[in-house]
Amino acid sequence: NTDEPLKVMISGAPASGKGTQCELIKKKYGLVHIAAGDLLRAEIAAGTEKGKRAKEYMEKGMLVPDEIVVMMVKERLLQADAQEKGWLLDGYPRSFSQAKALEDLGIRPDIFILLDVSEESLVERVVGRRLDPVTGKIYHLKYSPPENEEIAARLTQRFDDTEEKVKLRLQTHNQNVEAVLSIYEDITVRVDGNISKEIVFAEVDKALASVIEKKSKTSSAA
Ligand code: AP5
Repeated sequence: NTDEPLKVMISGAPASGKGTQCELIKKKYGLVHIAAGDLLRAEIAAGTEKGKRAKEYMEKGMLVPDEIVVMMVKERLLQADAQEKGWLLDGYPRSFSQAKALEDLGIRPDIFILLDVSEESLVERVVGRRLDPVTGKIYHLKYSPPENEEIAARLTQRFDDTEEKVKLRLQTHNQNVEAVLSIYEDITVRVDGNISKEIVFAEVDKALASVIEKKSKTSSAA
């Protein structure tokens, strides 16, 4: 079936540029962007019990327990829009057990993109990051400044975007990344994320185009 939609996972250290690349991928490929961190922040904003528990972990830069995260992501992934248009999973799975939960359901991506960014850059990116609560767009005071004064005046900062907290988040990432990679080794594409977001996207785009071509070849051969 040539209409089989694209399934993408994107991973990388905190502030490696996952959300930024997802905006660009979504624009070009029309995939449904599902970000584990965004789902959790929505629970916090809604003041739910789940959100309150999640925030305790997020403030410490730790992984939110599986009993909260696994179901939340699974349900979103199985919704009709994601099944029809294809999906782009950002920040999940982040541990062996999360990856295993998807494998057990027979959910496997076509490609696993890993953004490689040096540790020095990560801190600078986190500290300068700002978000537009109206459009959801991600900015950086130095690398992606807001387009005008009106937007600049309404930008907000995430509660876990401090130098101290990003170091804890990075530690958590480093402890888990190898175990997750071990599950997706055969479909992993490492992309250098240290350069400008446009050049990073050109690499990501190339990798996605090649996956689509391969998919269409296998389906027309079948
Ligand atoms: P989450 O929200 O996923 O945070 P994260 O992984 O730390 O990633 P970020 O959103 O901080 O960064 P990003 O890679 O999207 O970078 P961005 O594009 O914004 O998770 C938060 C917390 O939730 C976790 O700590 C955990 O507690 C919990 N959680 C989430 N998922 C979980 C899971 N599966 N299981 C358990 N717990 C979970 O870019 C960053 C900045 O850099 C921006 O300002 C941007 O403009 C700039 N920038 C981007 N690209 C470039 C570039 N190429 N050059 C220069 N600047 C750039």
